Amino acid sequence: MSEPGAGIELSHVTKRYAGQQQAAVEDFSLSVDPGELVMFVGPSGCGKTTTMKMINRIIEPSSGSITIDGQDVLSLDPNELRRHIGYVIQQIGLFPHMTIAENIATVPKLLGWSKERTGNRVDELLRTVQLDPGTFAHRYPKQLSGGQQQRVGVARALAADPPVMLMDEPFGATDPITRQKLQAEFLKLQADIGKTIIFVTHDFDEAIRLGDRIAVLSERSRIEQFDTPANILANPANDYVSSFIGHGAGLMRLALIPISDVELDAPDASAPAVDADASLRDALDLLMVTGAERVNVPGANGSLTHAKISAALNRVKQPVEAS
Ligand SMILES: Nc1ncnc2c1ncn2[C@@H]1O[C@H](COP(=O)(O)OP(=O)(O)O)[C@@H](O)[C@H]1O
Ligand SMILES: [Mg+2]
Repeated sequence: MSEPGAGIELSHVTKRYAGQQQAAVEDFSLSVDPGELVMFVGPSGCGKTTTMKMINRIIEPSSGSITIDGQDVLSLDPNELRRHIGYVIQQIGLFPHMTIAENIATVPKLLGWSKERTGNRVDELLRTVQLDPGTFAHRYPKQLSGGQQQRVGVARALAADPPVMLMDEPFGATDPITRQKLQAEFLKLQADIGKTIIFVTHDFDEAIRLGDRIAVLSERSRIEQFDTPANILANPANDYVSSFIGHGAGLMRLALIPISDVELDAPDASAPAVDADASLRDALDLLMVTGAERVNVPGANGSLTHAKISAALNRVKQPVEAS
């Protein structure tokens, strides 16, 4: 059981650090739907962390307004506010002298939960992030791998079941393989819990992979485009966004289109087979690897060719539906 997400609205938010000529964040306005996973992607120094930290008021905005579920966060007690927002920081940030269980129990403890309720919640969360409570609860952070520590960071942020989660490059410190695993786990988890999440990354692939919508940011947190991954890949708003996507936009888009979206040819049992719930990228991959002209999709009683795959890419390119 989990509390559903809350909507977040930032309106004309600006942050000027003392002694800085330029604003770090300038006139930032964005609205996040309840239960939505929004990615902030942009280069280092563009203001992602500053923008995010104003939502839980680790940094106070210089001007503008921020609401969660319609409530003005600037009118709330900052400590109280932070207990209701899960936060995963850039460098994991587990407390080194506390056990894993104590780390996860930080916010429940502040909220005055009983020992029993806290203990049950810690065990439940450890299992949620694929760590066996018997093995890990009483270890210290340094006795865990980077990927395991990241999972604990996520569990700690989820402890009091907050409607909103802020995640600042949470998987940034892990190696590529661990990272992919954490991303896949995280997507599964989010499908269950449906939190409203703002997730900061400088990795465009990660943004495409995880986001319901992506805000592509440039200097001073300027929003260059805010749209779904498919729409951004198909129709980048400007050169800045195009250069951020880099090469391989076609392949990235194919990875977002399920085979089930394509009208298939008749089945061909002699062709190599691909799952019906795979993506067009998987189908293309199989064509390339096998050198076949066609792949069979037994689960959808059809088959498809390279030409079909190209056509699907071009078909969804033009009219872009608002999400
Ligand atoms: N405490 C601070 N005081 C002054 N300038 C800061 C402070 N924190 C960040 N900045 C500046 O604000 C800009 C945005 O930083 P940040 O939000 O950390 O970017 P990002 O998370 O996108 O890398 C940068 O130019 C950074 O140097
Ligand atoms: Mg940052």
